[in-house]
Amino acid sequence: MPWLDHFGLLAPLYDRLFRVPDTVRLAQLVCLPIRGRLLDAGGGTGRVARTLVGSAGQVVVADESLKMLSHARVKPGLHVTAAHAELLPFPSGAFERVIIVDAYHHLQDQDRSLAELVRVCAPGGRVVIEEPDIEHVLVWGIALFERVALMRSRFRRAKEIAASFRALGAAVSIHRQDATVWIVAEPRSRG
Ligand SMILES: C[S@@+](CC[C@H](N)C(=O)[O-])C[C@H]1O[C@@H](n2cnc3c(N)ncnc32)[C@H](O)[C@@H]1O
Repeated sequence: MPWLDHFGLLAPLYDRLFRVPDTVRLAQLVCLPIRGRLLDAGGGTGRVARTLVGSAGQVVVADESLKMLSHARVKPGLHVTAAHAELLPFPSGAFERVIIVDAYHHLQDQDRSLAELVRVCAPGGRVVIEEPDIEHVLVWGIALFERVALMRSRFRRAKEIAASFRALGAAVSIHRQDATVWIVAEPRSRG
């Protein structure tokens, strides 16, 4: 839990402030539908996950903020788990797909979280990170705002995230549209 709980404060307003996003591109990159389980790590109120219900056998939202999760819990079709992305309470290979949307730059330990996302992803599955693209000028303003708001965000360039995925043995591709970037990782089988 961060020293200043921004998301706890934002939780009651979150879905009104940040409307249901267009997840068409995300769903394409995640390669849906699937019969297996999908994990939305840092999934907050389930704003994104709710749009994917029906595209996977089970949709699980994990988040460290109980207040954000209380809004996910009431959305039909979502399974909710309180968890830090740095230490996910799931067995290895539990999910066919893993996503993390607009949350990676908020993680305290990004490398450890990346390793966890890869660990819980089944062989042959996919991990997809959606982030504001820090190489896009519009995102510089978001980064500045979050710095002023003491959110302790750490935006990384997509190619740096891709290098961390490769170091974990995953094949990686990067996709961009406007100010959004997706890093798609396909972990290799664990031997
Ligand atoms: C900007 S919100 C995005 C929520 C959701 N993915 C969406 O797009 O609506 C970032 C979320 O990441 C969560 N978060 C931040 N650090 C986390 C961590 N280390 N482990 C799990 N969740 C975390 C916050 O509680 C918050 O719900």
